[in-house]
Amino acid sequence: MNEISIGLLGLGTVGSGVVKIIENHQDKLMHQVGCPVKVKKILVKNMEKHIHNGTDPSLLTNDVDDILNDPDIDIIVEVMGGIEQTRSYLLQAFKNKKHVVTANKDLMALHGGELLKIASENNCDLFFEASVAGGIPILRSITEGLSSDKIVKIMGIVNGTTNYILTKMSQDGVAYEDVLKKAQELGFAEADPTSDVEGLDAARKMAILATLGFSMEIDLDDVSVQGISQVTEEDIQYGKQLGYTMKLIGIAKQDGDKVEVSVQPTFLANTHPLASVQNEYNAVYVCGEAVGETMFYGPGAGSLPTATSIVSDLVAVMKNIQSGVHGGGNIAPQYPKKLKQDDEIFSKYFLRLHVADEAGVFAKITSLFAEHHISFEKILQLPVVKREVAEIVLVTHHASKKDYEDVLVQLNDLQSVKEIKSSYRVERGSIQ
Ligand code: HSE
Repeated sequence: MNEISIGLLGLGTVGSGVVKIIENHQDKLMHQVGCPVKVKKILVKNMEKHIHNGTDPSLLTNDVDDILNDPDIDIIVEVMGGIEQTRSYLLQAFKNKKHVVTANKDLMALHGGELLKIASENNCDLFFEASVAGGIPILRSITEGLSSDKIVKIMGIVNGTTNYILTKMSQDGVAYEDVLKKAQELGFAEADPTSDVEGLDAARKMAILATLGFSMEIDLDDVSVQGISQVTEEDIQYGKQLGYTMKLIGIAKQDGDKVEVSVQPTFLANTHPLASVQNEYNAVYVCGEAVGETMFYGPGAGSLPTATSIVSDLVAVMKNIQSGVHGGGNIAPQYPKKLKQDDEIFSKYFLRLHVADEAGVFAKITSLFAEHHISFEKILQLPVVKREVAEIVLVTHHASKKDYEDVLVQLNDLQSVKEIKSSYRVERGSIQ
């Protein structure tokens, strides 16, 4: 080919980064691909604004057909976000035999299976490295670097907003609401932070990671999700006393042919490699049967980090174009989906209770756990918090989710248990 032309859908923070990297790294791209690479057209909503900001007007359009129907455009880079309309644009792109690179985790978590299938049927590539953990090349690491291994566990800090909030709560002892407000002022958190703080953003990324890691089509609905809005400074402080760090952790685990995928605030043993990932940084910890433990760390968002992943995907597509192949088929799910039931999901748990400060209460509580064959690893009996109410913190040994949740229901029914203050999953420091 003499030249490869790109059509860009969107010119926000990430789109501008893509334009910049393509311009600044032209020599490197040319060396890798063997021909010049240029952005031919960019779809924007407000042309005036971008012309005012210095973009060449001949590059801009507000008609998507100028890109989707241009036979000279080889690759579409989608950085406009959104789901249904964007999906229809990408389906049209594949119909017109254009390859696609997208950063859109919402779209890939919901329609990734369909889009990959249509791309493959049209002999097109669809790459989406930037959809998970922005600047970390984690999808390529899983699908290529670790492709010879069987992945058994993926744990991720894949949301920068919540990692920033939990880091500040832990370091400065500040309340959740106050840190969230500060994060919004600094531009780390969205004006509407719901999808970040309630775990949905991380759940979408975990669905994508689990689908690729286990080669099984994991949908967003398969991910059990809990966010961080109920986490208190007290919990974090109690965790510290026990040697734990609080993180919003996505966990995808495979045992035999069955998998579990969840996102929840989790107490990590301080010795776990993810416990030291601070502020808005992301990291993904991957365990393979043969390779053992690996960890990938870096920025999870931002203009140039995210654009780096997108342009690396572009390089992969362009190399495929030059070789006359496409690479969609090798990441299509291989196995039927088999999800674990609650009695097959095992973990340790942290539980904080307010109980009546009277004789025999502790015995009642421990006998409930014993009836469900759950034993304790750690117990903290703390001073009375207010008159006649004592605080107890328990950490269990491994228990099934079903047994543990049955115990919680029965604890709630005990008159001497005044309140279940909090309950978190606990993960220890090495492969379990
Ligand atoms: N809102 C995301 C985060 C960034 O806080 O990590 C984009 O995925």
